[in-house]
Order: sequence, then structure tokens, then C-alpha cells
Amino acid sequence: MKHRPVKISAVGTHIPARVVTNDDLSLTLDTSDEWISTRSGIRERRIVENGEAASDLGAVAASRALEAAGIDAADLDLIIVASLSPDMLFPSTASFISAKIGADGTPAFDLSAACTGFIYALATGNAFVASGQADRVLVVGAEAVSKMIDWTDRGTAVLFGDGAGAVLLEPADSRDEGIIGFDLGNDPSGTEMLQLPAGGSRNPATEETVSARQHFIKMNGREVFKFAARVIESSARKVLDRSGCKIGDVDLFVPHQANIRIIDAAARKLGIPPERVFSNLERYGNTSCASIPLCLEEAAAGGRITSGDLVLMVGFGAGLAWGSCLVRFGDLQRIQE
Ligand code: UT7
Repeated sequence: MKHRPVKISAVGTHIPARVVTNDDLSLTLDTSDEWISTRSGIRERRIVENGEAASDLGAVAASRALEAAGIDAADLDLIIVASLSPDMLFPSTASFISAKIGADGTPAFDLSAACTGFIYALATGNAFVASGQADRVLVVGAEAVSKMIDWTDRGTAVLFGDGAGAVLLEPADSRDEGIIGFDLGNDPSGTEMLQLPAGGSRNPATEETVSARQHFIKMNGREVFKFAARVIESSARKVLDRSGCKIGDVDLFVPHQANIRIIDAAARKLGIPPERVFSNLERYGNTSCASIPLCLEEAAAGGRITSGDLVLMVGFGAGLAWGSCLVRFGDLQRIQE
């Protein structure tokens, strides 16, 4: 079967207004701006208000992507939402977003691949469009991770932030633009390294799980760090090799924003110069599934992604999963501020 080329035609994002700085966190945690910024590169993050959930951010990002593309929610064939902080275990956050944007009747589902979720969702949406099963797929990364954080655990509390990003996938007009390839993988020996232990069918909520603070993200930061530094390089090389592209062809490297030391080490190993690496980690922290679309929007706004550019995106996280995507961008529509 001949597959159609698929392009990322539009992007929309949304971040909460509330800024929490490292100094703010050091008022209640045994930490400091110096430790957080030198060990992670993060200076501040955005945090939702009480009562706000992932779908509230995701719906705004989704509406902005649709507005940028000049289409209505009714024109969508499929909505895929990636999130590690879904509104509820079920129904899907995709369903809540559909209700908010008015996508009545459109198929919508969530995809669970933790921080690699955006790349996995992109690969899934790409398959639908490439095979002709859908013409317009909205892929959303939406996170209110702050709701899953133990604010007494300095090892995780300083790292994460909230936000959302959405992209529209459509058939490309020619094979000169669009998604070139993916590399996806998962190392199931690392399930213990990063998880939210309770609240699912393994450890349903009890008074004990609550008092043991098991309803929050637990992470072995050192091990995840080593895993990330390794897989970013290997996955990036695989997707480039399979696509017949070289490191030197990459105009912009957009890695998942977890730690500036991970990003710098990966870029160094790959031989990508700093001016071709995108990061906004300093201002948003790790927004999990939202990090890559937030970067895409900001890079396009700043003229760092223009028509014809080859962009390499790499995600990684709990699973331990990873995923890379190589794209030749055409015009990426976004709302001009
Ligand atoms: O998207 C999901 C993927 N997640 C990631 O990619 C995260 C990957 N991991 C990391 O980014 C880093 O491992 C961290 C930023 C989490 C930690 O940095 P590190 O350089 O690996 O520090 P460490 O865990 O080795 O801890 C060094 C020290 C420890 O103290 P001792 O045992 O040496 O006395 C920690 O207790 O730093 C201490 N520490 C802190 N100190 C001040 C840990 N967190 C903090 C903190 N403030 N927030």
C-alpha cells in the first residue's frame, strides 16, 4: 500500500499564567536557586490553579492550533491526547478536550507513554493520515503535572511544570515536506525508575497509599538521567540513518525538556552545535508531553523553524520509553501575537 506524505501544518500552545520561581520553591523546600539552575537548567515553571486540569490547558492549545489552521473542530477526523496527568483515569482527557472545543462525534482517545507520549501520539496520528484513514488528526500534549507532584520531595518538585501544545497533521502536498520517519522504543526493565505507584489497579487508593504519599511521581533521577543521555543519542542516530539523513542536515534539534545537562550532553555526543539546539526549559521546566510542541511553537515564532527546515525531535521518559521523529517543515501555521 502506498502511504501518503503527512505534514505538521499548525501548532497551538497554552501555559498557565502563574509563575513559580526557584526562589519561591526554596521558601518551603530544602533547595536553592543555585542548586536547581546548575543541576537542571530550570529557573521557573508555570503551575495551574486549584481546580484546573490537563484538559483545560489542552483545550486552549487545541483551539489555537485549529484557529491557526483556519479550520473548525468539526473538520477533525481524530483527536489523540498524550498526558501523564490526565483529568481522570477515564474517561479520556481527549473526551474532555473534545467537549470543550466542540468536537462532537469525533473519535478521541488518550495515549499513555509518559513523557514520550507526544512522539508516540505523533507516530499514531501519522499512521492514520498516511494510510488514508484520516485526513485531519489533532495531536495534543496536555499536562497539569503539578497535581501529581509531592511538594515535599525536592528530588521531583523542582523539575516539573504545567502546559499544553497541540499540532495538526494533514496530508502533505508533496514528498518534499512532512514527517520523514520515527524511531520508537521501550526498555521495560526500567518500570521502577519513574512511576506514579498508586491509584491504578496495582495499588488502588487506600488510606495507606495516601499516607505513604504513593499518589505522587516517584523517580530515580540518577538512573533516568543515564538512560536519557544514552537513548537520545542512539535513537536520534537511528532515525537519521533510516531516513538517509546526516547530523549535519539537521537545522534544529528539539529534545524533550527534562534537564539542560541531558540536552547539552546529547547534543555534544551527536555533534550538533548549540545554535541548532532548542531549549526553553529555563522558563517552563519539564512539561512532559507538552514540552516538544511548546518548543515547536516558540521556535517557529522566533524564526528558528522556517519552511524547508529539517527538525529532529526526541522524547524519553517513564517506561522507560523513547521516541524520535524527523520532519521537514513546510509553513507551520501559528497564531501571530
Ligand atoms: O521527563 C522525565 C525524565 N526525567 C528526567 O530526565 C530527570 C533525569 N534526572 C535528572 O534530571 C537529575 O538526576 C536530577 C536533576 C533529578 C538530579 O540531579 P543529580 O545531579 O543527578 O543529583 P543527585 O540525584 O545525584 O543528587 C545529588 C545531591 C543529593 O544529595 P547527597 O545525597 O549528595 O547529599 C540529593 O539529595 O543533591 C541532593 N538534591 C537536592 N539538593 C538541593 C536532590 N534534589 C535537590 C534539590 N535541591 N532540589
